[in-house]
Formats: sequence, structure tokens, C-alpha cells
Amino acid sequence: MFKNILVQEFDCIQLLTINRPEALNALNLKVFEEIKSHLISIEENHKIRCLVIAGSGEKAFIAGADITEFSSIPKGGAKTFLSLGNTVMNLIENFHIPVIAAIKGFALGGGCELAMACHIRIAGEKAKFGMPEINLGILPGYGGTQRLSKLIGKAKAMELILSGDFISAVDALELGLVNKVVADGKEIEHAMELAKKFAGKAPLAVKAIIQAVNQVDHDLLKDIEKESDLFTALADTEDFKEGTTAFLEKRKAVFTGK
Ligand code: COA
Repeated sequence: MFKNILVQEFDCIQLLTINRPEALNALNLKVFEEIKSHLISIEENHKIRCLVIAGSGEKAFIAGADITEFSSIPKGGAKTFLSLGNTVMNLIENFHIPVIAAIKGFALGGGCELAMACHIRIAGEKAKFGMPEINLGILPGYGGTQRLSKLIGKAKAMELILSGDFISAVDALELGLVNKVVADGKEIEHAMELAKKFAGKAPLAVKAIIQAVNQVDHDLLKDIEKESDLFTALADTEDFKEGTTAFLEKRKAVFTGK
């Protein structure tokens, strides 16, 4: 039924794999639509007790939002464009069962944002994290400026988002961005083990705990709205056009501040 995600079921645990390895699992509107429709379809399924999200292929969990699609956002249309992705991020974050990201390879931009919306992150030792949006002349628009600051603190979040630098899994662990680092290739296995542990707990308590812990971010939706406004203004700049064009032409962008 789905073209861009795969869903497998192992007893009461589901494994959802983003399946666009040719584009390093970049998130386009179709991927978001399929994730959203799948999440909604299992909201009332009491048999499923935990969800693991992974990326297909060897190279990437998710290398960000799809830059080809980004480059064709119509003038003034970025906020509408962002809304589906933000709906998905919020659905994941507030899902009634634990959602675990099993991260192999790159988790960049929207990929890092999706991982941060999950409740738990398990990373392979070769995983790389980063927020390269600055190199496209924009900012992380799927809640990344907020979730990263809350997870690792404002100072380090500011450094990562302003520099666009990538960090290793070990550095991500030290910063509190991931819960655990495991041997490369064992990400899903470890995520499944943890999923089994959660799956054996009382479902109503699990749901209530997710709700209660999420309350630490009670203004998150409002703050992400502000982030979307800032993104929307940036998406209309010449620098954004230059940044996305340069990526697609595989050259370094030359920004002019216009
Ligand atoms: N959107 C669309 N396509 C993407 C993509 C993205 N975010 N990330 C990678 N791809 C595509 C590349 O264009 C390339 O396609 P091609 O084979 O048709 O040329 C393919 O995936 C493989 O990527 P490539 O860049 O050749 O691999 P690499 O090993 O040299 O570099 C990365 C890997 C992740 C460092 C690099 O792909 C990258 O910087 N991606 C963009 C990251 C980013 O800016 N994310 C935030 C977006 S808002």
C-alpha cells in the first residue's frame, strides 16, 4: 500500500522503515503523508505496544528534508509546506506508545528532527548528526531549533545550528542527543530489545508517562509556530534559492545576504 515506507510487525512491535535509499531517505511530502496515515491507522490498535523507526540502506537514517522538493516551494508558501512535516513530528512525539529511532548513518536536518521527536534514540557508532540547513540559507523548520535546545541546551544547540557541523554518535551521546550508542549494524536489534521491555509494561501507564513527560515542553507548539514563521521568511530569500541550487548542482553556495 505504501511506496516510501515499509512496515513490518514482530509480535506487538512495529518496525517502520523510511524507504528511499537512493535519496538517503530524504523526507518529502509523500513520505510524511505515508507516515502520518500509518500512525493514524494504528492509533486505535491496542495490540501494538511500541514502534521503531529506521532508515533503509547502509548510509543514512534520514539525510534531511528533500532538497529537490524544498527548492520548488512557491513564494510565501513555506509555512503551508512545513505544516505536514510538523504534524508528523508532533504525532510521533505525542504518540500513545513509545517510539524509538534506530539510527544508522546520517541523521541530518529533518532526519535529526524526526529522531528528536521520537521518545528514545539508539545510534550506531558510525552515525552522524547535524543541522546543515544553514548551508542552504534556512533554519531547521520541523521543530529542530526548539527540540535540540531542549535536549542538549541552548549553547551547544546554537553552535550546531549556526555551524551546520556534523557530530559523531559518541559526541551525540555525551551531549544527551541520543540515549545509547551501539555497534554499527546493531541499531535495530538494540531498539527492538528496548521495545520489548516497553511492550511488557502497563499500556495506560506508558501512555500517561509520555503525556506527563512531554508537559515539560508545554509551549512547544507555539514556539515551533514562531520557528515556521522565521523559516517562511528565509524561504523567500535569494540566499535560499542559491543554497538549494548549489546543493543540487554539487557546488559551494555563495551567499549575498539578500
Ligand atoms: N534531499 C534530496 N536528496 C538528497 C538529500 C536531501 N536532503 N541528501 C542526499 N540526497 C541525494 C543526493 O542528491 C544524491 O543523489 P544523486 O545520487 O542523484 O546525486 C544521493 O542522495 C546521495 O547523496 P550524496 O550527496 O551523493 O552522498 P555523499 O555521501 O556524498 O554525502 C551527505 C552524504 C548526507 C553528506 C550529503 O548527501 C548531504 O549533505 N545531504 C544533504 C544534507 C542536508 O543538507 N540536509 C538538510 C536538508 S534541509
